[in-house]
Amino acid sequence: MTQDELKKAVARAAVEYITPKLFNDSIIGVGTGSTANFFIDYLADIKTRFAGAVASSDASAERLKKLGIDVLDCNSVSELVVYVDGADESNAYLHLIKGGGAALTREKIVRAISKEFVCIADGSKWVDVLGKFPLPVEVIPMARSYVARELVKLGGAPVYREGVVTDNGNVILDVHNLQIIDPVGLENAINQITGVVTNGLFAAKPADVLLLGTADGVKTIKAL
Ligand code: 5RP
Repeated sequence: MTQDELKKAVARAAVEYITPKLFNDSIIGVGTGSTANFFIDYLADIKTRFAGAVASSDASAERLKKLGIDVLDCNSVSELVVYVDGADESNAYLHLIKGGGAALTREKIVRAISKEFVCIADGSKWVDVLGKFPLPVEVIPMARSYVARELVKLGGAPVYREGVVTDNGNVILDVHNLQIIDPVGLENAINQITGVVTNGLFAAKPADVLLLGTADGVKTIKAL
């Protein structure tokens, strides 16, 4: 199976997984990226089963609207029944690296108000130790150089993602050379640096379930 076929398989599995949890007034959280895009497309098939969605990016909001799914302002919703999104890496604790698509801050906000986070990923995202994928950090533009120097002190090699401005008007530093042995500790340490909006570690609040696409089918994985 190709990587896209695996992404489609987990996207379809996510629709099946969430369908029994939905009521007419349910609002769901929808993520960002190529796997999330497949999920949005399949979600259109069950759009009459729920009330609407909160999106983690402008791009996903546009895709949802084009398919006739109502998109709500996050501030008008107190709780999302479920949040479905992809990831760049996951370990066995379902600690994730996210933000390859630069949507990490809104993804963390959507995750924060969701009862359950269902991560969907093809098998290439499964790792023993997080950090091979460079860790995205969203930064207020005027703090870029300062934050980069602080990230070097934490053992990383930050690289400015040229030409990318987030939906929040900020910039991204991708931190290479990290072997993330303590994901919760590193997530908190980076978030303490002045000028950091947030980083792409989802460890303090990991995924609740991972639907992982493999050659043997979609595996449903709960955190260790
Ligand atoms: C966007 C993300 C995505 O979920 C992550 O980059 C995975 O993307 P894809 O599904 O395209 O592999 O965090 O900010």
